[in-house]
Amino acid sequence: MNKLKIGICGWGNVATGLYKTILDNQKEIKSNSNIKLEIVVIGARRDNPKCDPQNTIIERDIFNVLNHEIDVLVELIGGVEVARELILKSIEKGINVVTANKAVLYHHGDEIFSLADKKNVHVLYESSVCAGTPIIKMLHEELAANKVSRISGMLNGTSNFILSEMEEGADFQDTLKFAQKEGYAEADPSFDIEGYDAAHKIGILSSLAFGTSLPPDDFYIEGIKDIEANDFIYAAEEGFSIKHLAVSSLSEESIELRAHPVLISNSKYLANLKGVRNGIEIETDLIGKLHVAGSGAGQASTASGVISDLIYLSNIKDKISSENKHKSSKQILKIDDLKFENYINIKTSISEDNFASIEQVFNNNKIFIKKIKWKELSKNKSAVIIFTDLHFEKDLNKCISEIEQLDEIESVKSIRIES
Ligand code: HSE
Repeated sequence: MNKLKIGICGWGNVATGLYKTILDNQKEIKSNSNIKLEIVVIGARRDNPKCDPQNTIIERDIFNVLNHEIDVLVELIGGVEVARELILKSIEKGINVVTANKAVLYHHGDEIFSLADKKNVHVLYESSVCAGTPIIKMLHEELAANKVSRISGMLNGTSNFILSEMEEGADFQDTLKFAQKEGYAEADPSFDIEGYDAAHKIGILSSLAFGTSLPPDDFYIEGIKDIEANDFIYAAEEGFSIKHLAVSSLSEESIELRAHPVLISNSKYLANLKGVRNGIEIETDLIGKLHVAGSGAGQASTASGVISDLIYLSNIKDKISSENKHKSSKQILKIDDLKFENYINIKTSISEDNFASIEQVFNNNKIFIKKIKWKELSKNKSAVIIFTDLHFEKDLNKCISEIEQLDEIESVKSIRIES
């Protein structure tokens, strides 16, 4: 039996989850892989009352973990700059790295992978996207013969959990608190609800599949915090669910990269993945549409992904660089130049008889209205729900800012419809 000596850096929710899983599932790990995972040292700035590391050596300065005899550093401290420094030091010392940290890879991936390549060191990161639900090694290995043309999916478990619960009538803030308690949300949950976490993950997948850089050039990112209970009701009446979707799609000239809420038809596979689940649709030339779904956050799922990297590391004989050498020179398309159908929710005290003033703005901007519904919110207030035809994003933005200038308009919200 092979032995893999591990140094863990970080002693929070994810790291203690890994520690417990290595102990609890050691029989499965040994019998499925013939490998013994030995935790030699833990870099923990402070104790964690939820987990007793027993006799494992503890280093309060996490950088000292690299002075121990270890085969791999498991970086679970989170954050960006200290994590970058730690990973680069580990690579410099010739110590392999496993990380679950999507933010550090998003911001410094090219630098990290290129140094790893130079030093012949592995940097593995399965659980940085979708936690333990397999996607990184699948793209890298199982789909290696395929031309991938599009990756889309719900990549933030917290957002999918909140939206699924709201669809059933729950409150946004209560659900977010529950997600924090369960360890799904980031330490700073604005990363989840403002879309950055999903953006980090689609950036990593896009780099792997299409050679975009890490960090990628600017792309459109929007979160779920403006979605309200009524939006689910109005969307459901037309056969839609609301999801937070991240998309990377290849065309001849350019790459489409974006992360934002969408209305998605209930007939689509992704619409029906509820709760903390992540779901991805990959389009390839050889397989067609491939779907992957599973838990995308939390201690246990992340531990599963990290352990898969540790086992992979023990098994690989040849050094294969983690770096994607096929860097793309394609431009990332501006969201303004993309076309969408939209759901629009206008809160107004204008009566139905006086809709002409709003309609005129749509006509002037050549945005064709496919369907319109009036919903009474109170005696003097309505929500006008509009479903548009396909149009350029920039034309709708102009139309919305003109509507906002009209009298008696309280708010205008739009959500793209994913076709
Ligand atoms: N906060 C993240 C999520 C954790 O909700 O998906 C897993 O990356």
